Amino acid sequence: MIPESFIQDLLARVDIVDLIDSYVPLKKSGANYFACCPFHSEKSPSFSVSPSKQFYHCFSCGAHGTAIGFVMEYQGMGFIDAVRELAGRAGVQVPDDKDYSPQQQGRTRSLIEIMARAAQYYKEQLKRSPRAIEYCKKRGLSGEIAARYGMGYAPDGWNNLKSIFPDYDGEALKEAGLVIDNDNGRRYDRFRDRLMIPIINAKGDIIAFGGRIIEQQSDKDGPKYLNSPETPLFEKGRELFGLPQARQALRETDTAIVTEGYMDVIALAQNGVGNAVATLGTATTATHVQKLLRQVDRIVFCFDGDNAGRKAGWRALENALEALADNKRIGFVFLPQDEDPDSYIRRFGKESFDRLVAQATPLSDFMLRELANRCDLTSAEGRAQLIHEAKPLLLKLPTPLLRLQLVKRLAEASGFAQQEVERLCELKSYAPPAPPRPKRTAPSLLRSLLRLLLHRPTLARQIDPAQIPEGSERPALLSLIRTVNESHGEISYPALRERLRGQPEEAQIEALAAELLALPLDEDEAETEFAACLDKLSQGQHRLAFAELQTKAQRFGVAGLSAEEKQAYVALLAAQAKKG
Ligand code: UTP
Ligand code: MN
Repeated sequence: MIPESFIQDLLARVDIVDLIDSYVPLKKSGANYFACCPFHSEKSPSFSVSPSKQFYHCFSCGAHGTAIGFVMEYQGMGFIDAVRELAGRAGVQVPDDKDYSPQQQGRTRSLIEIMARAAQYYKEQLKRSPRAIEYCKKRGLSGEIAARYGMGYAPDGWNNLKSIFPDYDGEALKEAGLVIDNDNGRRYDRFRDRLMIPIINAKGDIIAFGGRIIEQQSDKDGPKYLNSPETPLFEKGRELFGLPQARQALRETDTAIVTEGYMDVIALAQNGVGNAVATLGTATTATHVQKLLRQVDRIVFCFDGDNAGRKAGWRALENALEALADNKRIGFVFLPQDEDPDSYIRRFGKESFDRLVAQATPLSDFMLRELANRCDLTSAEGRAQLIHEAKPLLLKLPTPLLRLQLVKRLAEASGFAQQEVERLCELKSYAPPAPPRPKRTAPSLLRSLLRLLLHRPTLARQIDPAQIPEGSERPALLSLIRTVNESHGEISYPALRERLRGQPEEAQIEALAAELLALPLDEDEAETEFAACLDKLSQGQHRLAFAELQTKAQRFGVAGLSAEEKQAYVALLAAQAKKG
């Protein structure tokens, strides 16, 4: 665990405006900064950054977070990596964290250096291998494209890497996945006589390689593609091949094409289709889809036209559902038999490929078609099965509009009424979202308090949690008060926000913080409002106590009250009379 106090210090050191501005140029307007949101595509800027509160919020897609959150979202990193990244920027060391000690950081850095050095070596070797060059040419690849993807060649031979790594027998090369130890303890290069394709993460670090056999002569040459094993740098289900190279084309087309092969991506780029990426020998995961939908509004999966392709398509669909939103679209292209994107574009050209992508089968059509294929819709059993199979998929969908469309079509196909489908699938029927709250109507007591605490968290220390009445904001308030009381000194909004990461109150707190960004409080206003809130809280408390005592007094007579209770009752009666 990284100590809380470190996170707090780090957040205090990093200016979120500088940070975000280095990725997305910001424009100042009034007290805040604005840009077009980097997490969805939009024409007018609704992404805002608050320099005083140190958080960002997109009024259009709801993206919200601190500096740490921004790095996580933008670079697709985990929490710890994002903290490290920010610490690196701020020039501070992440202290004593068991999983991520300075040694570990050093190790990661040295693994990255090793991968870069190996890639450089493979690149040089490609220039020297007429055979490998010939192979690239045969596949229609230019030198320019080879350079763009950093392609290289691992020559034949068991210990070639010895020539560039003096410490060939050390732990690091093994950890980087570049060498293998056999049972006799002899070490040899993992990649031999293979075309080498580096896999590069969003930061531009080489984190793995894919190596393609140049010409398969026999089975003992090993698999056609050999990939780096999972290493501390490389987690297959998260990474996409070709993402950094595709960035600009993704922006221009607002569409990502997902293929199954590295060579497909490279061949598409060679032929003018720059917005393709590939999964790395794994099925498409929800993380992949999420990552892409942050950059584009449309994903088109492109699979081979055989059975395996359809299966892969189905798995992609199942995993994509939970990452969908109503403003995002997902389509499927199934190529003609025996073609893959590489062979298709070389044979039929870019225009033809573009057409396939433009006419991709929408997710809903693909889903219904596949489900219908599995069930015999001419029988009652088959129609019941249709709904049975659709249920888990519908439940995964977070998109009310698309879900409604699917329900209607399922109803048609199954002969059930729409409401029956909804009931059978245990879906809540769709209610249009409540109209946005009118701004600044008198907010409820709890809401005011929550806003005030987000404005100045240390105010929480003046609140007695026992006085907080029931209400929908109560859990969030209690959680804020607890968090502030557990910390020392000043505590900022981003520090609070990070402490609440992953807790159920997150969304409510974000919404109120966003309101503060749009309608900031000034200090005087905050003070007056807070005093009024405290007053109301204690009044509420009095009212409750009074009601309780009154009930007791009515049931048992004043004589039934203890001496203290009597005293309190009289005091409360007096207070009541004074007010009345
Ligand atoms: P394919 O077998 O479809 O190859 O594998 P391809 O992309 O058409 O490659 P070429 O055109 O023959 O060169 C698709 C993906 O599956 C993984 C790789 O990631 C590959 O890009 N794969 C395939 C492996 O990991 N190992 C293998 O032996 C084969
Ligand atoms: Mn191929």
